[in-house]
Amino acid sequence: MKPVLGIDIGGSGIKGAPVDLSSGRFIGERHRIATPQLALTAPVSETVRAIAEHFPNLSGPIGCTFPGIVISGRIYTAANLDDQWIGVDAAEEFSAACGRPVALINDADAAGLAEARFGAGAGHKGVVLVLTLGTGIGSALLHNGRLVPNTELGHLELNGEVIEDQASNRARKAKGLSFKKWAKVLNRYLAHLDRLFAPDLVVIGGGISKQFDAFGPRLRCRAEVVPAALRNQAGIVGAALWAAGDATG
Ligand code: BGC
Repeated sequence: MKPVLGIDIGGSGIKGAPVDLSSGRFIGERHRIATPQLALTAPVSETVRAIAEHFPNLSGPIGCTFPGIVISGRIYTAANLDDQWIGVDAAEEFSAACGRPVALINDADAAGLAEARFGAGAGHKGVVLVLTLGTGIGSALLHNGRLVPNTELGHLELNGEVIEDQASNRARKAKGLSFKKWAKVLNRYLAHLDRLFAPDLVVIGGGISKQFDAFGPRLRCRAEVVPAALRNQAGIVGAALWAAGDATG
C-alpha cells in the first residue's frame, strides 16, 4: 500500500507527514510550518502546497484537516480561525494549489478516526466519543468504528455558556483553573454528554492529554475515560485515512 500524505491545520502550526495506512505510522519525518499570522485562505493554501512539495516522492490524494465544520470539502464554520473561511470550498482551493486532490475533514473527526483505528479506541465496539481539548473543543462520534462527521460537541451549551469557553484547555489557562477545578467542569460536561449519547468509551485528546495523569484520575463518568494514544499524530493519520476514502476507525 502506498503511503498517503496527511496534513493537520492547527492554530499555531500546519504539519504534514507520510502515513503508512496499514500501521498508522509515519514513514518519514513530520514537516511543520508555522500557521500564517492571518490564517486566511490564500496564505494557508500556500502553506499546504509547501508541505506537499516537501514530500516530492509522494503522489496521489492528500488528506487535510480543518478546525471547523467541513461538508464535501466546503467550510461551514471556523470558530477559532477567520470568518473569511465560511463558504469557501477549501478542498478545491487546496487541490488547485497542490495540483492534486486534497480531501478535507474536520480536525477532531480525523483524530477520532485515527484513535479508533490505531489508538485508544482500537478494537472497541459500540459508541466511542473522542474529545480534543485545545484552543477549542473538538469531538468525534464513532459507532462500531464508523464516524458520524461534524458533531461539534464543543459547542453545546451548559449553564448558559458554550462549553468550549468553559472547558477547553484555552479556557483552563485563561481562567487560571487548577487541574482539580478544571476536572470539575469537565465532569459536568461528561455527565451531560453521557445523558445525550451514552458512550461506551470516551477518549481525551489534544496536547493536554500528555498531562492526563494530572487530571484524568479526577474524571468521573459512567463510561471509561482514557487518554488518546496517538497524541499530536492523530490528526495527520486520520487525514490520511480520509484521503484514502476510509471513514471507519
Ligand atoms: C471547532 C471544531 C474543531 C474544534 C477543535 C471548534 O471550535 O468548531 O470544528 O474541531 O474547535 O479544533
